Amino acid sequence: MSGIKDVARRAGVSVGTVSNVLNRPQLVAERTREHVLAAIEDLDFVRNESARQLRAGASRTIAVVVLDIANPFFTDVVAGVESVADEQDALVVVSSSGGDEQRERRQLARLAEMRVMGVLITPVSAPSLEILRRSEVPAVLVDRAAGPGERWTAGAVAVDDVRGGRAVGEHLVHRGHTRTAFLGGPLSVPQVRERQQGFLEVVGAASTTTVLTAGLSVAEGRRAAAVVLDLPQDERPTAVFCANDLVALGVLQQCLLRGVRVPEDLAIVGYDDIDYAASAAVPLSSVRQPREQLGRRAAELLLGSGDEARLAVFEPDLVPRASSARVLAPPTAG
Ligand code: RIB
Repeated sequence: MSGIKDVARRAGVSVGTVSNVLNRPQLVAERTREHVLAAIEDLDFVRNESARQLRAGASRTIAVVVLDIANPFFTDVVAGVESVADEQDALVVVSSSGGDEQRERRQLARLAEMRVMGVLITPVSAPSLEILRRSEVPAVLVDRAAGPGERWTAGAVAVDDVRGGRAVGEHLVHRGHTRTAFLGGPLSVPQVRERQQGFLEVVGAASTTTVLTAGLSVAEGRRAAAVVLDLPQDERPTAVFCANDLVALGVLQQCLLRGVRVPEDLAIVGYDDIDYAASAAVPLSSVRQPREQLGRRAAELLLGSGDEARLAVFEPDLVPRASSARVLAPPTAG
């Protein structure tokens, strides 16, 4: 593939003159400009790497579109993707939708122009799936399978989040909690909905306060905790299940700010088991997602021959720690 120096040599001008013809043609005499353009045509010169990749077909790049780049869950997933990309001499580029559907659509449009090898995505919503399904770019869902109403036949790697939610419910019931809360959102994120579903199947909706959040961040956790802690004493839950560890860390922060003892006054369980869970001020009970495995498997599905199973579902593991260690005395009769 010819470069700018080849064009300069063919036209008998400097590289700077070729650059001016491409970027500031008004600075170049018409006769010289036409001479350079003829050389560009003869040599089939393309202007930059992206255009070269377009001519040469897909670039050796795997794109990962995550919900929240500040969430260590996704950092670990990307590490798994990179372990496969390195084997294929491919580059990994990461973008974060921030949970914004319009932003995600713009990112998908740019990626289609870049002719990436494929996209690994934790989508904001079903419409984004439809865009991916209609685009020619190979794609695999990460951290969730396609929902019943979503037409998706490509690959997906997920964790059984309903099972994860059930495990938390059983864990808290076994410790004597009869008044619980679920903190997380939005419920448009299937992972959140399924965790809540599994949890409520065990503890029952009647004995659970649900505080929906606008996102899955530490700040949202602090806000949701304030709602829970402001409840009258006889309505306040003794345990909260948070849709992910960042929300749980926000709850823990709020408790420590208010002098609420964890787990004595309030037990907390998160989800993901990111590294910060174990190292929190009160080590956080969580549900471990095999994050690097999710990333690795998604990349393998994307680059694979296509005869493997298109859906890989991993089992979550409850990891009990100090934040939910207390066992409540059974309520006395009468
Ligand atoms: O993918 C949605 C959420 O599920 C992320 O925030 C991550 O924490 C996972 O648990």
